Amino acid sequence: MRIYERYTEAELNEIGLSGRIPEHVGIIMDGNGRWAKQRLMPRTFGHRAGMEALHEIVREAHCLGIKALTVYAFSTENWRRPVQEVNALFGLLTEYFEKEIDELDANGVRIVALGDLDPFPQKVKACMTDAIERTKNNTGLSFCIAINYGSRAEIVRAIKKIMLSGVPADEVGEDTVTSNLYTAGLPELDLIIRTAGEERLSNFLLWQAAYAEFVFTPVCWPDFDTAEFRRCIIEFMKRTRRFGKVVE
Ligand code: FPP
Repeated sequence: MRIYERYTEAELNEIGLSGRIPEHVGIIMDGNGRWAKQRLMPRTFGHRAGMEALHEIVREAHCLGIKALTVYAFSTENWRRPVQEVNALFGLLTEYFEKEIDELDANGVRIVALGDLDPFPQKVKACMTDAIERTKNNTGLSFCIAINYGSRAEIVRAIKKIMLSGVPADEVGEDTVTSNLYTAGLPELDLIIRTAGEERLSNFLLWQAAYAEFVFTPVCWPDFDTAEFRRCIIEFMKRTRRFGKVVE
């Protein structure tokens, strides 16, 4: 089992990453299907390669000192895919946790699920909830998996929770909404990376993205490696974030 070491300042300097590391990075892992097609292989082959790419990115996020990494693993719209593909994705999720949980836990990673786990088959649900329960007190990287997640549904759910809690309308503020989203308690989202060349959000973290920077890369997710991840973060570091203010 690998123990992930944090990079030292000197190491970060050497790889051009000393400075303002984003606290919370979201990734839309796109292009598994295209990657497989280019190799004349079934789409599920691409998803498996995508799962392997994820392993290295989680480790790198930890080593860089990123506090939260959120990946878009299964959207509320992904149920429309052929049943064989949906089942293959469920199988990979289960396999991922079975294989990785000991290493993630040993490295202090906290697993968080964003989305409604109820509609999933019992086996998938059980392995996710076990991983969440087992790592809930870990204080390292928060590794958040958006699964059966859609940002509009998340906002509607938050509104319902707020209404049911009986808060008077004139006391509802932005913080009330933020603290009723799945991402409550996580750091502000700084950066969204989308792979495979598409430049849209696809219902991912709409509220949370208000002041996030976007980096789009043509690389398909299975080929997204630590070098490309670092390149995206360096691009983020070059941006001037104004948050609506004038920056001299
Ligand atoms: C998008 O590629 C990818 C997905 C819908 C699923 C992402 C899943 C993984 C990376 C594998 C397992 C995940 C975990 C968390 C263990 P696409 O199929 O839409 O690609 P395309 O646009 O090229 O068709």
